[in-house]
Amino acid sequence: MKEKIESIKSVALLAIEQATTSSGLNDVRVRFLGKSGEITSLMKLLGTVSKEERPAMGKALNDVRVQIESALDAKTAVVEESEKQARLAAEAVDVTLPGKTSAKGSLHPLTLVREDILRVFLGMGFSVAEGPEIESDLYNFQLLNVPKDHPARDMQDTFYVNDNFVLRTHTSPMQARIMTTTQPPIRVVIPGRVYRSDDDASHSPIFHQIEGLAVDKHITVGDLEGCLQTFAEQMFSSDTRIRLRPSYFPFTEPSVEVDVTCAICHGKGCRVCKGTGWVEILGAGIVNPAVLEMCGIDSKEYSGFAFGLGLERIAMIKYGIPNIKLFYENDVRFLEQFN
Ligand code: DAH
Repeated sequence: MKEKIESIKSVALLAIEQATTSSGLNDVRVRFLGKSGEITSLMKLLGTVSKEERPAMGKALNDVRVQIESALDAKTAVVEESEKQARLAAEAVDVTLPGKTSAKGSLHPLTLVREDILRVFLGMGFSVAEGPEIESDLYNFQLLNVPKDHPARDMQDTFYVNDNFVLRTHTSPMQARIMTTTQPPIRVVIPGRVYRSDDDASHSPIFHQIEGLAVDKHITVGDLEGCLQTFAEQMFSSDTRIRLRPSYFPFTEPSVEVDVTCAICHGKGCRVCKGTGWVEILGAGIVNPAVLEMCGIDSKEYSGFAFGLGLERIAMIKYGIPNIKLFYENDVRFLEQFN
């Protein structure tokens, strides 16, 4: 038994020396010290040793067990430390690598321009309203002084839903909706989508307008002009000037078309303004007294001004965009320029 103990000792210490991983060391522990390990098995055999030899054998066996245990513990500490270092090296984070960024979206140019315009009018005390896109003939035309079969209907190429309903051709019907339900003073702007059977580089069958309406005592063309001059300065630049040209709309009297000095050449004349220095931006006028009366407002006590502008047109002028279709194609290369 003595030789057996010695040989187990040297085999075990060699195995410990050669082990390079913690799982290898664990195998060694099981092989020698486990429940049915080689040392443990010898312990069980002690009973078969003669009474005289038993204490010495027991001690020798115990000494070897202690030696193997401490060799295992020492080597395990070394191996676990180097395994930890290797794991840390493998998991190391390079803090100098550039971070991952997510692509940032931006507002559509028409949304940007709408927000800009509304902000200017909110600053002048107007509130914002919206209305239906499928509109009755009554509001879209009749209450705006365009009777059925009147030649003025030809001014707007209309999509008829049926005899009594149309896709609204302008945001002006909201003037009638508001005046039939609200008594002055009224100051309101109405953004919205409108529809016309019309399609070329500067016209789209679906486009956007913003309507403006102010009704109060003593409203004059001077109020209209001052309001739109302020709008033009804030929307384009402080040196922008406006001019009013006589025009015709059934719902205003007198009616005007409003031009601004060209945002590109500042009035000197260029390709965008076709050499004139002026660009038309909207239609406007003094609310026709007939419209006030049809909507239940006393035209002897009250007067008003109104205007309607095309959002696409303003955006095209402001950003120098040559074709209206660019707004609807959703080409990211176009859209991301408005970041
Ligand atoms: N509704 C007209 C259009 O679509 C624009 C317009 C002109 C609106 C004069 C107005 C106005 O309110 O007073 O062409």
